[in-house]
Amino acid sequence: MERGDYAGAREAASDLGGIYTPEYEACQRSQIEHVLNLVSAASGLIVDLASGVGTLVERLACCFPDRQVVVTDFSPRVLRRNKKYFHYLGIDKNLDFLAFDVRRMPFRDDCVPVFTSHVGLQNIRYPRRAVAEISRTLKGYMFATSIFYPKGDLETDQLLRENGLADLCYMDSALKVFTESGLRVSVENLMEVRAQPTPRSELLGGAGFDALPVKEMAISWCTLVARH
Ligand SMILES: C[S@@+](CC[C@H](N)C(=O)[O-])C[C@H]1O[C@@H](n2cnc3c(N)ncnc32)[C@H](O)[C@@H]1O
Repeated sequence: MERGDYAGAREAASDLGGIYTPEYEACQRSQIEHVLNLVSAASGLIVDLASGVGTLVERLACCFPDRQVVVTDFSPRVLRRNKKYFHYLGIDKNLDFLAFDVRRMPFRDDCVPVFTSHVGLQNIRYPRRAVAEISRTLKGYMFATSIFYPKGDLETDQLLRENGLADLCYMDSALKVFTESGLRVSVENLMEVRAQPTPRSELLGGAGFDALPVKEMAISWCTLVARH
């Protein structure tokens, strides 16, 4: 992908079975479909937050080719790569790319019709400020797929706390943060699934895909819907 060999990268990615369990992948697909259904009923510009490699953006651009979608991340490098890749796929007609930190968004108050995010918000460290910014700028709806972890596993709790990620990685605290930011929030399409740690590389010093879960555990997938 980094070399620009998009066809080769797609072929390699199609053979990545075993990284996530089939149940985990089914949950992920279900949340993305849920968000696409919600987006189809909400009109206006879509701003996708913490777009990363653009799993959700790719589906948004394919399903709603006439809607304007703003692809965002605080990594300009990720956005540059996405721009070239979506051009290669021929789905970039209505895509814009904007690098920013969700905790300091370059939008005026009360102006964004639709925010989306696919497991993006939970990757933001110290995310209370991000939710406050969503509340400040939101005019319509936010649809965000999310994974929640069970409380009480010492290793997971410590990892989330030490990395400033705890606020949006447990369901009760996430709902509290949204409510305290003045948003009405609901949990849709809630699913519980057993998840396993993603495999580690033997060649690249133990590098892996995801830091969590650290051990096999039941996690919850859902779509958070927020509005004023
Ligand atoms: C796991 S990816 C999310 C997956 C992605 N939404 C998708 O559809 O494939 C998480 C992304 O969040 C971005 N991120 C983390 N903190 C951020 C922040 N404060 N503001 C903006 N982006 C952030 C990271 O750069 C990373 O690309």
